[in-house]
Amino acid sequence: MASQVLVAANRGPLSYDLRDDGTLSARRGGGGLVSGLSAALARQPGALWICAALSDADREAVRRDVSEPGVRMLDIDPTMYHDAYNGIANSVLWFTHHHLYDVPREPVFDAEFRRRWASYVAYNEAFARALAEEAGPGARVLVQDYHLALVPGQLRELRPDLRIAHFTHTPWAARVFLDMLPDDIHSRLMWGMLGADVVGFHTRAWADAFAAAAQPDDARRVAVFPLGVDGDELRALAHRPEVDEKLAELRAEVAGRRTIARVDRTELSKNILRGLLAYRELLTVHPEWRGRVVHLASAYPSRQDLKVYRDYTAAVSELAAQINAEFGTQDWQPVLVSVKDDFARSLAVYRMADVALVNPVRDGMNLVAKEIPVVSEAGCAVVLSTGAGAYEQLREDALTVNPYDVSATAEALHAALSMPDEERAERTKRLAAAATALPPTAWFEAQLAALA
Ligand code: G6P
Repeated sequence: MASQVLVAANRGPLSYDLRDDGTLSARRGGGGLVSGLSAALARQPGALWICAALSDADREAVRRDVSEPGVRMLDIDPTMYHDAYNGIANSVLWFTHHHLYDVPREPVFDAEFRRRWASYVAYNEAFARALAEEAGPGARVLVQDYHLALVPGQLRELRPDLRIAHFTHTPWAARVFLDMLPDDIHSRLMWGMLGADVVGFHTRAWADAFAAAAQPDDARRVAVFPLGVDGDELRALAHRPEVDEKLAELRAEVAGRRTIARVDRTELSKNILRGLLAYRELLTVHPEWRGRVVHLASAYPSRQDLKVYRDYTAAVSELAAQINAEFGTQDWQPVLVSVKDDFARSLAVYRMADVALVNPVRDGMNLVAKEIPVVSEAGCAVVLSTGAGAYEQLREDALTVNPYDVSATAEALHAALSMPDEERAERTKRLAAAATALPPTAWFEAQLAALA
């Protein structure tokens, strides 16, 4: 049956496991966006989510025609998928939008790049064709993120009757980084995105960067939808028994000391190394905190197919170990690194943290900065990078820092640890209100309305 509301995203709401007996079982995916989008889609009867098969088990499900209502997975050739996802989306596009290049060496646009680009085009076409097949007349289509930047243009050619939105969850690159791209690639990206009737971003800053690269007429379709948190849902999740258990464990480990928490994928743009350097400087410049604070750093592996990510992950562990060797004592370990993606543990950390360190060099939004104030028990001072999308909404009540300025970050951590309890609680309340202003369901419906 043709759908009237469709979402296209690389990552879907579920994935499959292949059991020992050869049968397949479906598992809901984790993460804020997936649960938010799932809740929003559940309110749209007959809505369809189109995503890529990400594993052998997913591809097997497609081949066996196993599926769940409301989800269609695309079986994309694994080599082509690897080239599109790792070779273009997570290398070239992610690095461009986050300004991550090590410029003496990268980027290099050569024949190998062109080969990968052809895969990216084909991978986008697979989504465009599937959307064209599944969409009812005049249906509304919401395309997600930099993985699928060409889809709106491609889909527009196949189905001029559709109403199409594209939403970017990352920043949009400054001109100087876009200008590194070969001209034809840059203009193809703009062509793809501008196939959409509405081009959405989390913040005014990213929307303006995109609009500056477009013609004035095209810039009119750019809009800002700052994704927020569903407060009730998150608080309910944070008070499940398994989270209470983790909280008790963590409290025992920390033994009454103050805590500075961070929770990230081990991602180059999250600036974890400078965060650790700032913590080291705090302990050096303000030795009164030695033995009285613990840095809970959750940094779980991500995109390990890429060597720079493997190297970065190793560098994070190494620096944390150095800090522990330098300052640690018999009964105090200054940094506790957790590399497991454990949502229950993260929620326990959110509940107990005195200070949150959110210092990405650039970040589309950063939902951690919004989630922590919502579930914090006694109030949490948020040290927030000016490069995070969340800065636009949280700047008033966060302690804001230039993410490259390690000394300023160390001083902000000191100020956050020293903040009077009452002030911290007041600020946390206001941060939580700003964070829940546009929960996922409202965020999604605002975009649908913009297409009406
Ligand atoms: C960013 C992107 C998302 C992506 C997520 C995790 O937040 O904007 O689209 O899903 O990172 O990355 P992954 O490559 O694991 O999906």
